[in-house]
Amino acid sequence: MGSWSGHGGGAAAVVLVVAVLVTWAAAGVGAIGANWGTQASHPLPPDTVVKMLKGNGFQKVKLFDAEDGTMSALRKSGLEVMVGIPNDLLTTMATSMKAAEKWVDKNVSNYLNDGCNIRYVAVGNEPFLSTYNGSFLQSTFPALRNIQSALVKAGLSNQIKVTVPQNADVYQTSTSKPSDGDFRTDIHDRMLEIVKFLSDNGGAFTVNIYPFISLYIEPNFPKDYAFFEGAASPIVDGSATYTNMFDANHDTLIWALKKNGYGNLPIIIGEIGWPTDGDVNANAQFARLFNQGFMTHIATGRGTPMRPGPIDAYLFSLIDEDEKSIQPGNFERHWGIFTYDGLPKYELTLGTANSQLQRASGVKYLEKKWCVLKPSANLNDAKLPDTVSYACSMADCTSLGYGTSCGGLDTRSNISYAYNSFFQKNDQDDVACGFSGFATITGQNPSTGTCRFGIMIEVDSAFSWKPQRVKNNYLLMLLLVIVHLCLSFS
Ligand SMILES: *[C@@H]1O[C@H](CO)[C@@H](O)[C@H](O)[C@H]1NC(C)=O
Ligand SMILES: *[C@@H]1O[C@H](CO)[C@@H](O)[C@H](O)[C@H]1NC(C)=O
Ligand SMILES: *[C@@H]1O[C@H](CO)[C@@H](O)[C@H](O)[C@H]1NC(C)=O
Repeated sequence: MGSWSGHGGGAAAVVLVVAVLVTWAAAGVGAIGANWGTQASHPLPPDTVVKMLKGNGFQKVKLFDAEDGTMSALRKSGLEVMVGIPNDLLTTMATSMKAAEKWVDKNVSNYLNDGCNIRYVAVGNEPFLSTYNGSFLQSTFPALRNIQSALVKAGLSNQIKVTVPQNADVYQTSTSKPSDGDFRTDIHDRMLEIVKFLSDNGGAFTVNIYPFISLYIEPNFPKDYAFFEGAASPIVDGSATYTNMFDANHDTLIWALKKNGYGNLPIIIGEIGWPTDGDVNANAQFARLFNQGFMTHIATGRGTPMRPGPIDAYLFSLIDEDEKSIQPGNFERHWGIFTYDGLPKYELTLGTANSQLQRASGVKYLEKKWCVLKPSANLNDAKLPDTVSYACSMADCTSLGYGTSCGGLDTRSNISYAYNSFFQKNDQDDVACGFSGFATITGQNPSTGTCRFGIMIEVDSAFSWKPQRVKNNYLLMLLLVIVHLCLSFS
């Protein structure tokens, strides 16, 4: 446990805390934060997550919204909070000053008075991502302006700053050199509008940097350059030499800002991390190498060639989220440094804390049972594939592809994995282990090697609508079977 987390009284503890703080200050190390997303079928209780954050030495947390359960758990936690306005609220915030004021009143002032240490409001999340096809180009800046005005009106603009988390694709370099960097031509003016506003109002530029994605979309990307261990072919740019993509990408942004007259705008790394499953390059080994490399990098306090000094960053992500869209890729549900149930996936030393990651405490699991393919099931049965497709479409099969944690399973186990995922996601309801009679429930854990057949965790009563969903799923499944039978008889 990080010594500065404030547990245990006594003079010795105080001295220790002071000593650690002095070490941090001397090294010029920025505080480390974590992203806390909640797109999960069975999220850990907010109080458990807050304990995890504090117990592991995080000082800051970044949210994607301002859900009441989350915000209440963060009260008096001492954690610095960045709350978020989801993209689908941008148009409302942009067109109605009243709505912006209401948002600030309900989601900032309200919790601030309750002892929640809110420091930033993130307006939108990667709104200029090309996959959004320009949907938020018009609304982002007016929404930012209205939220800032609402903060001023509420008398909070000194203590709470605005920002817009952007994907690193908002800037580019025509060569591989950071000094050739500038904002993307199609959004150049939009970016400057925002950058000027952030600069005028004491805000910060928030950017998400992902060397993993570069490796994912460009197989020839030099792997060593993605990590922090030195590179065979460093990029030389004037007097600077870049041996890792993070520094080069970061400094491409600095050059883009500098070129347009904002070279001193503070920068926050809103998301940085490496996934552990769903792709050949997504595994615990690489994730550890990357995240530990990054933590060591920021612990030196040296910064990058173009911006020496502390780096302000939020790891992506704290916990896996099994309901995230897999449109970016199957890895998308596996960014956590912790599993869905709060287990550390690998050893990681955060900041100057010498302790390893601590698992979540008091997690309540459902019964020790799994849904698997019956040993007697005939693999050549024509009805089998539909049951697997159904399970995978409703639950999570992102750990079954080539090079993933369960990629080595034989066909029977592969099918069992899909069935179990569906069964667990539906709270182990017997009805969810039917699959046209192909499945059965077992008390024997089918996990092997790196492949974990999970057991779901309990969720609080706020989620009591789940059983209803099981019934709907069951009906859908019946329908599928009937359609199938009709087709077979026709
Ligand atoms: C506050 O935030 C929540 C969560 O993002 C959102 O659903 C709600 O609409 C917001 N409240 C107001 C008054 O805008
Ligand atoms: C983006 O939106 C425009 C207009 O709505 C449409 O014509 C175009 O096909 C879309 N592009 C993509 C890639 O979805
Ligand atoms: C296992 O299941 C996945 C997803 O359904 C599929 O893509 C893969 O080919 C299967 N592998 C085997 C060996 O059956």
